Amino acid sequence: MRKKIIAGNYKMNFTVSEAEYFVNNIKERINTDEIDVVICPNFVSLDRISNVLDGTNIKLGAQNVYYEKKGAFTGETAPDMLLSVNCSYCIVGHSERRINFNETDEMVNKKAKILLENSINPIICVGETLEERNNNLMFDVVKKQVEKALENINGEDVANRVVIAYEPIWAIGTGVTATASQAQEMCKYIRDTIGNMYSSKVKDKVRIQYGGSVKPNNAAEILNMEDIDGALVGGASLTEDFVAIVNY
Ligand code: PGA
Repeated sequence: MRKKIIAGNYKMNFTVSEAEYFVNNIKERINTDEIDVVICPNFVSLDRISNVLDGTNIKLGAQNVYYEKKGAFTGETAPDMLLSVNCSYCIVGHSERRINFNETDEMVNKKAKILLENSINPIICVGETLEERNNNLMFDVVKKQVEKALENINGEDVANRVVIAYEPIWAIGTGVTATASQAQEMCKYIRDTIGNMYSSKVKDKVRIQYGGSVKPNNAAEILNMEDIDGALVGGASLTEDFVAIVNY
C-alpha cells in the first residue's frame, strides 16, 4: 500500500513572516501520519518554517537545488544546505523552471541524483504542453522525461524515495484540471514506464502525484484514482484550501 503524499508548492509567494504566520495557522489541521504532507516554501523561509514544523509530522521541502556540492555558483543552493535546514524533499524539474530557467532533462537528472546522495527525496515533475497533447504526443514526451530524469538512479531509490509529479503544463495555474481519468491514464502510463525500466516491484512501490489546479472540489476524485498517490498543489496551497485538500 503506497502512502499518499500531498505537497504544497508556495512558488514565489509569501515573505518569511507571511509564510510563518500561514503555516502556524494551518499546521495543526494538516498534521497527520496517515499521509505525507510536505510544505515547500521559498528558500529564505525554509529555516523559519523548519522551526514552525518542529514537533509535527509535516515534512519540509525545497523548490529547487543546484547539482554541485559547493563552490563558485553565485545564487545557487547546495543539497547539504537544504539538509541543514531539515528539508527531506525537494521539487526538481518543475515546468516553470524548465520553461523560464531553461532546465533540461539532463539537469533534472543531475539534481535528482545529488539529492538522493544527500538523503533528500526528489519530487520530479514531468508533463506535456497543450500543443503536445493536442498532437497526441503526450505519452512520448512524458516517457522521455521520466527515462531521462531517472537515468543511472537505482531501482531501490526509485521505489522508496523518488516521487514523480505528473503536471500537465496546460493545467498549472490555469484553473483547468485534467479530468481524473486523464490524470489516472498518464499516472498509470508513468508507472508502466518505470516498470519496464526496473521491475514490477519498483512499479508497484513508486509514488506518483498529480499536479495542476488541484482544489478542494476535485481533490478526492483525483486522489482516489488507482495510480495517483498524491497531489502537488500550487495556488490552493496558499490558502485554507490546502487544509481541505489534505483532509480530502
Ligand atoms: P497549481 O500549480 O495548483 O496552481 O495549478 C501546481 C504546480 O505548479 O505544482
